[in-house]
Amino acid sequence: MIWPQSVLLVLLVSAKNARSTSFHLSDADKDYLMELDEQLSYNLFEYADKLEEKAQHVQRIVKEIRQPLKAAKGIEEEYLSNPLHSFPLIRHLYEDWGYLEEFMKRPVGQDQKNFLKEKLQELPIYSEVVEATEAIARIQHTYGLTAFEMINGHIEGIQLNSTLTALDCFAIAKYYLKSGKIDAAADWLKNTKHLMSEDNEEVHEVLGLSVREVVMLLARCLTQLGQTDEAFNLLKSQPDLAEKTPDLMDLYMAQPKGSKNLFPTWSKAYSACCRSSHTPNPTRLLCRYNSTSTPFLKIAPLKMEEISLDPYVVVYHDVLAERAIAEVLRLSETKVEAVKVVQSPGTIRRENVRSALGFWLPELGEDINGPNGPLYKHIQNIVRDITGFVIGNEQYYQVLKYEFGGHYSPHCDFFNMSLQITREEGDRIATVLFYLNDAPHGGATVFPDLMVKVPAQKGKVLFWHNLRGETHDFDVKTLHGACPVFHGTKLAMAGWIYEYNQMFLKPTLRQGDRPNAYT
Ligand SMILES: *[C@@H]1O[C@H](CO)[C@@H](O)[C@H](O)[C@H]1NC(C)=O
Ligand SMILES: *[C@@H]1O[C@H](CO)[C@@H](O)[C@H](O)[C@H]1NC(C)=O
Ligand SMILES: *[C@@H]1O[C@H](CO)[C@@H](O)[C@H](O)[C@H]1NC(C)=O
Repeated sequence: MIWPQSVLLVLLVSAKNARSTSFHLSDADKDYLMELDEQLSYNLFEYADKLEEKAQHVQRIVKEIRQPLKAAKGIEEEYLSNPLHSFPLIRHLYEDWGYLEEFMKRPVGQDQKNFLKEKLQELPIYSEVVEATEAIARIQHTYGLTAFEMINGHIEGIQLNSTLTALDCFAIAKYYLKSGKIDAAADWLKNTKHLMSEDNEEVHEVLGLSVREVVMLLARCLTQLGQTDEAFNLLKSQPDLAEKTPDLMDLYMAQPKGSKNLFPTWSKAYSACCRSSHTPNPTRLLCRYNSTSTPFLKIAPLKMEEISLDPYVVVYHDVLAERAIAEVLRLSETKVEAVKVVQSPGTIRRENVRSALGFWLPELGEDINGPNGPLYKHIQNIVRDITGFVIGNEQYYQVLKYEFGGHYSPHCDFFNMSLQITREEGDRIATVLFYLNDAPHGGATVFPDLMVKVPAQKGKVLFWHNLRGETHDFDVKTLHGACPVFHGTKLAMAGWIYEYNQMFLKPTLRQGDRPNAYT
């Protein structure tokens, strides 16, 4: 999917507010929700205890009030002829059952019900579930997986522990149904049915899942897919639907076929590049010596891999030292913790619940990591060395963290529009992307138009030009995206280099293909 310009604008412009390009729970949020789930489970246990307490109470009462009845067993007539027996019976019938009705009506586990009701406010909301489901769908489609493979955690040749249950599968199936992706919905419904057994039927019933509903939805999907015989047989095999089968089939057949497909699609080239089956083009490994640069570079030349010459895309290996990476990550982690601390559970937490970790370097506050700090200076020097561009001290870098399903759909980095930043600095002439960890399971950067894939490996820097040579025309072939992460985490740091700083390097600068250039 190529992002519509308006969406792209929001993503790029808002980037500085650290609302990032992927949607994930922070670790702190995840911990919080796990803990909440634990509390709610415990609360349900307590509720069961209260019910049991009452059940035992009821049993003691039954035992007590059945005593006279037991004594009369078999000798009823004789028993009742004794007034000391008939009086208690009349009294008992008149009084006790009224009190017992009151007792039965008395609510049980009210505290636990209240606790649950209160906590419902803090639970994830529908849109969050949709986004989590989208992450599943994105991974399934980018990597071309069946529902069965996902349920078994078999993704791209690696084996993950999977905990997907019938309830999860049903939720995913419903998402696909809503998006109009019927074949995928049918696949997930079949697996839902398969995972349901009689053992958990009464649990599923409470949690909104019944075989009957699954079968009906599946039959509807199969009919839409033209598999009417399968649909018919499926309904027939369900005892409580067998009789209604012809009516249901009529209903399903009458539905319009090929309805709206709202499911987002990605270009085939993007998916193809992301998959492990992609075979990379051979690249040239060069060493770049920069004699005009720092003396350091003379003795330690940079290892450069030429990915593409048009557009210019290169990778530098082993650039950012372990120590610097650790420092960047340490800074971003504490930043994220800080964000979490000021959030109270509830609505405020939700505002940020899905942003990837986004952190801007240098920090605005003045400390050793500010614009004059050694870490920032170190990064600046590296970027100067590898890009050959003029990098001013207004240069910011954004640290990004992608987790399960985290991705960035194919897009170009240039703005091509009039914004404060483009009026002041020009457009983004080039991009540098530092990989801060090894992310072997998804997370590669791909250029679909070039059929190029750059795996995320610690210490590497990817660098490319967004604008063409002397004309500064937009280079649409720089279209690139980040493949969805399906295991672990990807950490990266991006920096965008702007045009006007390069004025003296490239005196031929002209407006290129921007007719009303940013005035
Ligand atoms: C899967 O779970 C088992 C047991 O909980 C654990 O030992 C193993 O490391 C897990 N595997 C992965 C890939 O997470
Ligand atoms: C070497 O680095 C300097 C400054 O960083 C830059 O101006 C110059 O273009 C680079 N030289 C080469 C050959 O890349
Ligand atoms: C830049 O924006 C103009 C005006 O909206 C549009 O016509 C042009 O196609 C855009 N160029 C690129 C490369 O996106």
